Amino acid sequence: MHTENYDVIVIGGGAIGLATAYHLGKRKAKTLVLEQFTFANQLGSSAGVSRQFRIPYPDEYMVQMALDSQPYWDELEKTTSTQLLDKVGTLWFGDPNVHSTEGNIAEAEEALKALNVPYTTLTAKEIEEQYHFRNLPDTYTGLFQPDGASINFKATIEALLELCKKEESVQLQENSPVLEIKHIGELFKIITPNGAYITKKLAIIPGPYINSVINLLEFKIEATYWNMSSAYFKKTDPNIQYPTWFVFQNAIGENGNQFYGFPSVDWDHPEYIRVAPDFVINPLDEPSDRTLIPNPQELSYTSEWVQNHMAGLSTEPEYTSTCLIALSKIPNKELLIDFAPGYVPNHKNIVLYATGWAAKFTPFLGKIMSDLALDGHTDFDITPFQLGRKYFKSL
Ligand code: BEZ
Repeated sequence: MHTENYDVIVIGGGAIGLATAYHLGKRKAKTLVLEQFTFANQLGSSAGVSRQFRIPYPDEYMVQMALDSQPYWDELEKTTSTQLLDKVGTLWFGDPNVHSTEGNIAEAEEALKALNVPYTTLTAKEIEEQYHFRNLPDTYTGLFQPDGASINFKATIEALLELCKKEESVQLQENSPVLEIKHIGELFKIITPNGAYITKKLAIIPGPYINSVINLLEFKIEATYWNMSSAYFKKTDPNIQYPTWFVFQNAIGENGNQFYGFPSVDWDHPEYIRVAPDFVINPLDEPSDRTLIPNPQELSYTSEWVQNHMAGLSTEPEYTSTCLIALSKIPNKELLIDFAPGYVPNHKNIVLYATGWAAKFTPFLGKIMSDLALDGHTDFDITPFQLGRKYFKSL
């Protein structure tokens, strides 16, 4: 079998894998991206066309990461004629006592204050007057942060693909699931149905398919998988517009009761508003259990919330979508960025990004992952994310 040698093989050609390959290309590293499906597919966590960019987080280091990501988004946006971020702002509102996997409003306010990030606070009444929500309990509070955005994630992936294609040292290979990873001294031999490739370093970034790759290296991360639903409601008032938003509320039985939404955008069902539940009624054990069909009960709770609390929209969704997320046991959906555990041979030459919610950091994570792969370190402090020792388990 013909083999080729690389400095870095990136396993996973989603947004973060491509961003990593682009930065590797800028540093002239001979790079191969292996994508198990086709590029720009809708089978991973990047599916669903839009994502939220936000700065509010309960932890200062996360706020800092969002701030640090901004110049990388600006740089990426300059490379394409398409606007990638529609800066409609972030509206967080709801029960101030609720701590969800997204965080908590009061804690986020403290973190924003500490880092001098501008935001305004809102009462329930002000949220209703200014943002078209209705029937909110008087006890609800809110914050608005103007730098939040709806990310055109399809265009983001396309922009990154174009950049990778222009980098002479980057090769892209789709329909290439990794079947085997062999250790050859200090090198790795990667076997796919389309060929075998030798590399000095590995950057493993397969999104929710993380375990199918790291199992080949005899370890795993415990995760559940969410087939997250999204619903599109037609605007009955064509002039109505929403920011990106998230509502913090206590669960009511199986209804997780937390929802998030987007403005209408010209790149995705333009006359519709997308609203999604941030909970899953039936988590999956394996990515292969996924059906691409949204859970009808999740959709029904979402419609009920829209009917009760949002003005200017139809009562039932006309379109839906799903995306696949791997969630580990790390609290607050935090990211794991680390090297392979010490029991894996040559572990210092294997860098991984696993689980967590990271679309909003995409171009910055590309820089971080490429530096870690090439240099073994990065200027950005990744210690809060170096959770491998705790969450990786030997098989
Ligand atoms: C998203 O952008 O997909 C997202 C936003 C808030 C919560 C969950 C997902």
